[in-house]
Amino acid sequence: MERTFVLVKPDGVQRGLMGEIVQRLERRGLKLVAAKFLLPSLSLAERHYAVHLGKPFYPGLIRYITSGPVLAMVWEGPRAVDLVRQTMGATRPWEAAPGSIRHDFAVEMSRNLTHASDALETAEQEIALWFSPDELVSWERPHENWFT
Ligand code: TYD
Repeated sequence: MERTFVLVKPDGVQRGLMGEIVQRLERRGLKLVAAKFLLPSLSLAERHYAVHLGKPFYPGLIRYITSGPVLAMVWEGPRAVDLVRQTMGATRPWEAAPGSIRHDFAVEMSRNLTHASDALETAEQEIALWFSPDELVSWERPHENWFT
């Protein structure tokens, strides 16, 4: 079982796509274990995107992610990291697979609606950055093994 970190970025919130994105993850069979709606501080945004520091798109990326509230979430399921990345689609919306969120709702890389951890190790770091351990809710569905 894996856990992964997902953000609906400010453009997703402003375009009214939070429900759509949550619904796609729920219907895929993943389980929500944490969620919060917040305006990311500059320091949180800088820590989240530290790997991109110094790249030409970094200042714009930080401005974008701090420009409005975001929905931060943790989702759990078998192979959750890869599964969620696939549901989101490629970083560049014009390369995203048909049926993925970025294919269906985005046109620009700099406004690509969502973030999802790209590996198990990054998922652990991002979950720890955005959530405290007591905000993660472990819960069982009565028929947990239906989709395993
Ligand atoms: P990245 O972590 O590479 O992609 P992903 O969000 O799919 O994990 O990049 C973070 C964000 O930075 C990406 O969603 C959009 C933006 N970005 C640009 O604006 N220009 C670029 O050249 C790249 C690589 C990313």
